[in-house]
Amino acid sequence: MFKPLLSLQRVGKEFPARGSGKGLSYKAVNEVSLDIYPGETVGLVGESGCGKSTLGYLVLNLLDLTSGEILFEGQSLANLNKAQQRALKSQIQIVFQDPQSSLNPRFKIEQIVEEPLRLNGWRDKQKRKERVRQLLDKVGLGEEYLGRFPHELSGGQRQRVAIARAISLNPKLIVLDEPTSALDVSVQAQILNLLKELQRDLNLAFLFISHNLAVVRHLSNKVAVMYYGRIIELADTNELFNNPLHPYTKVLLQSIPNINPEKPLLVELEGEMPTPHKSPLGCSFHSRCSYANDLCREAGSELQLIKEGHWVSCTRQKV
Ligand SMILES: Nc1ncnc2c1ncn2[C@@H]1O[C@H](COP(=O)(O)OP(=O)(O)OP(=O)(O)O)[C@@H](O)[C@H]1O
Ligand SMILES: [Mg+2]
Repeated sequence: MFKPLLSLQRVGKEFPARGSGKGLSYKAVNEVSLDIYPGETVGLVGESGCGKSTLGYLVLNLLDLTSGEILFEGQSLANLNKAQQRALKSQIQIVFQDPQSSLNPRFKIEQIVEEPLRLNGWRDKQKRKERVRQLLDKVGLGEEYLGRFPHELSGGQRQRVAIARAISLNPKLIVLDEPTSALDVSVQAQILNLLKELQRDLNLAFLFISHNLAVVRHLSNKVAVMYYGRIIELADTNELFNNPLHPYTKVLLQSIPNINPEKPLLVELEGEMPTPHKSPLGCSFHSRCSYANDLCREAGSELQLIKEGHWVSCTRQKV
């Protein structure tokens, strides 16, 4: 059996709450467990503010955990020495939504793609130059882009540069945080195809964060649905889209045009996610769920395995 590349084990991240919740802490990520295997794509969906990007930053070791553990190839990300941290940085990369702000506007494309190589032991200038050309070619950009600045490129071309930079050190995992949502629809498809191609060639695993469920369905092997810091449902992509079990997942899926247009909404999603000072007892979705009963209000439910590969946290689901 394959071993997971990345394993999140009851991972939590708290931030101090602001505004009227002052003095309280806010569980942006709460008891999240998730495995990602080599070469696979795990989609991560959920409404704005549910903790997707925070989870991505934890995976990249850019934030300290409040609780739990993250293992990469069996090794905990906590307590790495400097050399191990550097090695890890080359193994896990990120591509952000907005290449405009993630690329240094004062650097030429050649310098942008070269930088990680320079900082990671590629001392030979000629070899770096060759590698940069090869990387640009891999993402579909010719040599004529080497001397240009980011503002001299289109949005799609800039995202290609960000991807070239992300793959420069042969990573095993890339966190894709809304990688195409700032782009034109026609360009989105090209970038998604490029990512798929690179994944196949380089055996990359992706944690793919997106609001676009149709794209998530197209790209992912399995999908995790997040609500208020928790994963509330996790299943293989086909299973999740054909047989969603959590009321929140059902609402999310029904918001995709063309999926079950004839079926009325099963659940009306009203109001907003809970806030730190109104953090509910029991299931965090109960205040918005039309099926909620006393058990949901008082106890809620842990994520549990309902059938092979399908996990859900909902008191209505009996094992
Ligand atoms: N550095 C921080 N300090 C305090 N609170 C934070 C910090 N980063 C994120 N948060 C809070 O944590 C919660 C989760 O934020 P996060 O950015 O992970 O959400 P998201 O799911 O990525 O949302 P979106 O879909 O809008 O990108 C939000 O309430 C956010 O305000
Ligand atoms: Mg985000």
